[in-house]
Amino acid sequence: MEIDILTIFPEMFEGPFLHSIIKRAKEKGLITIRFHNFREYSTNKHKRVDDYPYGGGAGMVMMAEPIARCIDKLKAARSYDEVIYLSPDGELFNQQTANRLSITRNLMLLCGHYKGIDERIREHFITREISIGDYVLSGGEIAAAVLVDTVIRLIPGVLGDETSALSDSFQDNLLSPPVYTRPFDFRGYTVPEILLSGNDKEIAKWRHEQSLQRTRKRRPGLLDEE
Ligand code: ADE
Repeated sequence: MEIDILTIFPEMFEGPFLHSIIKRAKEKGLITIRFHNFREYSTNKHKRVDDYPYGGGAGMVMMAEPIARCIDKLKAARSYDEVIYLSPDGELFNQQTANRLSITRNLMLLCGHYKGIDERIREHFITREISIGDYVLSGGEIAAAVLVDTVIRLIPGVLGDETSALSDSFQDNLLSPPVYTRPFDFRGYTVPEILLSGNDKEIAKWRHEQSLQRTRKRRPGLLDEE
């Protein structure tokens, strides 16, 4: 999978993308992530990318032209399955969307700032708008990092154990069951005996019941979702 990220703060991705699963996926050649600072596409001599909003009001708006020029250049080189704008008013991101995005070849992610981007970019260049939750971040970068992390771990071969992504919380709209490791007795708290029984069928049944119980208690709404 190839991911192009348009941002005026590419450094913000350095931390999350240099470690763990994303690092491994890059090393295995399963993903390529490129950053494009659309400030470099500004025709303004001060490389400005924002301006005052028409109609007045507080905050600045990101100008259409530098973003459009950057998108045009990228689109000339390859076609994209989705051009995604990260925004608090997009569709709410969930595991199902992550699953769908994980089988795409080319994604473009656009990170906005300030009051947002000129509406004409949203109307004519963006194919999908995604929010990672009902709260406002100071920019789209952290949301893009969340999306990339969630999607990449689903690509076959990225996780060591092929099945482990499928047994994550939210696959099947269920939360994960509790997990334990050694020692059996930790400060007097012990591990449920069933997990030591060696009976795989009974263990699977117990885990499923625990998942159901946990979901009913913590996130009952998930059980009503399709
Ligand atoms: N940009 C600012 N807030 C955001 C959010 N909640 N999700 C996605 N992008 C955002």
